[in-house]
Amino acid sequence: MAAVGAGERADPLDVTRVRKDFPVFEQVRDRPLVYLDSAASSQKPRAVLDAMTEYYETTHANVHRGVYAMAEEATARYERARRTVARFVGATSACEILFSKNATESLNLVANAWGRANLSAGDVVVLTEMEHHANLVPWLMLAEELGLQLRYLGVTDDGLLDCSDLEATLDGAKLVGLTAMSNVLGTLTPVRRVAEAASAAGAVVVVDASQYVPHLATDVTALGADFVAFTGHKMLGPTGIGVLWGREELLDAMPPFLGGGDMIRDVRLDGFTPNELPWKFEAGTPPIAEAIGLGAAVRELERYGMEAVRDHEVSLTRYALRTLGERYGDDLVIHGPTDATERGGVLSFTFKDVHPHDVSQVLDQSGVCVRAGHHCAKPLMRRLGVAATARASFYVYNDESDVDALADALSSCSDLFCL
Ligand code: ALA
Repeated sequence: MAAVGAGERADPLDVTRVRKDFPVFEQVRDRPLVYLDSAASSQKPRAVLDAMTEYYETTHANVHRGVYAMAEEATARYERARRTVARFVGATSACEILFSKNATESLNLVANAWGRANLSAGDVVVLTEMEHHANLVPWLMLAEELGLQLRYLGVTDDGLLDCSDLEATLDGAKLVGLTAMSNVLGTLTPVRRVAEAASAAGAVVVVDASQYVPHLATDVTALGADFVAFTGHKMLGPTGIGVLWGREELLDAMPPFLGGGDMIRDVRLDGFTPNELPWKFEAGTPPIAEAIGLGAAVRELERYGMEAVRDHEVSLTRYALRTLGERYGDDLVIHGPTDATERGGVLSFTFKDVHPHDVSQVLDQSGVCVRAGHHCAKPLMRRLGVAATARASFYVYNDESDVDALADALSSCSDLFCL
């Protein structure tokens, strides 16, 4: 499971070995754990838990403040984590990596810092109908306050991003926000194509990559975006740490988002001078242990190899689409693209007339964990004509036996509801 360089073929993921890295699968339970909810939050490998515990046990102090050795070591570890994340996503410089609380906060940072400085009444912001609320609500709030015009790229009946009218929709836009991978449909969107069209229209592009960075090798510059937001807890890292990558010149020109300690170079009674990047955007004590945990998570993903992670998920998704299709036919509607290469390992489904919450509860009796609900994507639910779906999502520790367990557990659902 060595990491591979560009152009090399990854060793396939050895799921039996990978699962041994995750203490959660060692717990003794009354039934085996079939964890199919990594799109909501992934499980954590021992390396992440150990890195955080070791930091707290040996080196904890606040960062960027004390000049004693232990504080310097805490700062060094925090900044090392930033460089690790920068390398992982192909950032030109670590100062383009801002740590936040989660992807939602990263996207709010763009809306509030870039948006307030650059948008005014009548300006056009283009979003997509498949956005998570995190990349909708901040813009809806700003639109209401500033009088912005919102336009939307729709979703095709096949669950793809509808780019048939791309140039016209983007005409005159100042900002385009899109997900790189839908948390409901699994759809991979053509970020590069949208970014090129946005750039031709003179718009800045913000990408919600929360479901993308954990699963596909990411090069933020190749994506062509200006801002890319993602979160640690969906990529084997802890909760409480998010990331915003931004192009340095844009970040430099933006005013700070939150005010307080560490984000300043000087404070007077009549004003302040902001700090340099990236600290200008990190007010207050940051999530130090969480950043260190995220650094460890990235190293685990690099050890598995992101090409191997992606290959594994494509083949598992293909197996799931085939198995569930063969077992349940039209009784089970899986939303989103039918081609596993056009999607990530996220399967949102409706099963006969059973409410998704009931599906989830019945599956849980077989140890199968899936999310049910609107997945923080209510406009997309309306587009799909459903109030909610059940959603199974895969990661590095899942294999075909988990899909089989899901398929078997669905039949108990059928029996229970006498369908
Ligand atoms: N955004 C997360 C999900 O899709 C919580 O479940």
